[in-house]
Amino acid sequence: MTYPDIRPRRLRRTPALRRLVAESGIAPRQLVLPLFVREGATETTPISSMPGVVQHTRETLKKTANEAVAAGLGGVMLFGIPEEKDAVGSGAVDPHGILNLAITDVVAEVGDELTVMSDLCLDEFTDHGHCGVLDGDGNVDNDRTLDVYAAMAVAQAAAGVDLVAPSGMMDGQVRMIRSALDAEEHTGIGILAYSAKYASSFYGPFREAVDSSLQGDRRTYQQDPANRLEGVREAKLDVSEGADIVMVKPALGYLDVLSAVKDAVDVPVAAYNVSGEYSMVEAAAARGWIDREAAILETLTSIHRAGADIVLTYWALEAAQLLKR
Ligand code: PBG
Repeated sequence: MTYPDIRPRRLRRTPALRRLVAESGIAPRQLVLPLFVREGATETTPISSMPGVVQHTRETLKKTANEAVAAGLGGVMLFGIPEEKDAVGSGAVDPHGILNLAITDVVAEVGDELTVMSDLCLDEFTDHGHCGVLDGDGNVDNDRTLDVYAAMAVAQAAAGVDLVAPSGMMDGQVRMIRSALDAEEHTGIGILAYSAKYASSFYGPFREAVDSSLQGDRRTYQQDPANRLEGVREAKLDVSEGADIVMVKPALGYLDVLSAVKDAVDVPVAAYNVSGEYSMVEAAAARGWIDREAAILETLTSIHRAGADIVLTYWALEAAQLLKR
């Protein structure tokens, strides 16, 4: 017999064979498009650090939601940018606050065809840019923040959202939100918990996207990038508190965490391909250093392969087209 007698290349010989034996494949229905909407805006505002991504007006938000339906996406994740920010993030709980109005707009427009989700956090709404309210020493006060999150969840549910997505990494936030929703008879509204959320430099462009004024960092509440088991613990804790879906964020630097979480829980797992991950590929592609479309598909395939049932990505609309080819 000639050597080598075992030849894995046989199954890679033709595109048809490769397609036949592919172990995973992400579909448009598993993609979620994050969208930013700016209060009072009459035209869209480009986000310079995220080429191709804009802050929407209420009108262009509805138009884009329709495009998401046409592309066969699974859902949209809404973020609001209020005109006025204050220390306690009042705009977040106001039924006429921009995020709550946007939820109602999008649900009325496409609610039957798309899962509508909303970021549940205070950083877009506070003048100090932290994810919660501060105590007298300037630290984020966990338990006072929970009360605001509970009110925010009820406001978002009243606006018609399908899934609220708490992203503030406060202890006990999922149980607090579940209880508040149930007490107001919103038992059918689910929780997509940002469970393993790391204090990451890859959120950099997002700060511009939501006009955040954050000074300092979030290391007293978001996780240390050095830790994997802590991410698994947080995800299991969130499931025990009532999370319907858990999420790991960012995605690319944390594929090991994603894989471990997928093995540890029995609810769907999501991953957030964050702003900095998007902008790195866009910047390299703009210089001709990387094949943009191939890099997009490879990024999303890798996140899915590692364990994500659902992927949040700013490329969702375009990726859906690429996947259909
Ligand atoms: C919190 C939130 C953030 C992101 C999503 N939700 C910012 C943060 O926690 O610092 C980042 C998303 C991205 O970078 O694409 N509201």
